Amino acid sequence: MITINSTTLSTEHSQLSAEDIIVENCDKYPITDHPFFQRLKSEVPNLKAYWSYFANFEPLTVRVPDWFASLLLRVENMELKGLLSMIIYDELGRGDLNKIHSALMEKLVRGLDRWRVQSNSIDPLAPGRTLAQEFDQLYFGKVDDDELFVLGSIVAGEVYGGQMAFFMGEQVRRQNQVEMSIFEWVSIHEEVEADHANISRVMSEILPTSGPGFESVMAGAKWKRVKFWRWLDEIYQVAYSEKPKLVQV
Ligand SMILES: [Fe+2]
Repeated sequence: MITINSTTLSTEHSQLSAEDIIVENCDKYPITDHPFFQRLKSEVPNLKAYWSYFANFEPLTVRVPDWFASLLLRVENMELKGLLSMIIYDELGRGDLNKIHSALMEKLVRGLDRWRVQSNSIDPLAPGRTLAQEFDQLYFGKVDDDELFVLGSIVAGEVYGGQMAFFMGEQVRRQNQVEMSIFEWVSIHEEVEADHANISRVMSEILPTSGPGFESVMAGAKWKRVKFWRWLDEIYQVAYSEKPKLVQV
């Protein structure tokens, strides 16, 4: 039997940065628990489901440089501005048109075009379009004008992004119907851990650990999870033509 000393627990808890708390939560409740990913993993490789996922990720990749540029204008910390600049530079292919992340995503979705979902009852590209609009609102300060809310959502988004990239990396390697070279976007995103470690460190230093600022950070992280989860519910419907079973967000 394990006894938890509540005093010790709360002391330890208060020593954790907001960034640590978000990462811990995201690791404990990974976004890959979503029924879309669980079904994908349990069945034979389903390229129609791959298409549903990546085609609805594409509108996000196109917007990332503008989102981060907008955030760069809103934060004061110079180190964070520098790290955001690096992300923007990477996203834009470091000056190489062929390496722009959105171009790599376009190549991926084009490579899966044979498995494009055709439906009269549902718009197969609506989930990505809706989420991109919601993220526009977030990054341009219309959801909550406190940048701590946006930073909290970024910390959670980075962890979930990593989880989804690793998960989909494993999935696409199970199939042999298309050349692995079309999945360059996935392999690049499985390899960006070092940059993320730097971002995490700076975030740990600048995010408040208590008070209303801390609440904003946490609310931003939660917002990101809810939006991703609903987006995955919709992708599930595109891929499998039925609603997912109700699972706790
Ligand atoms: Fe990217």
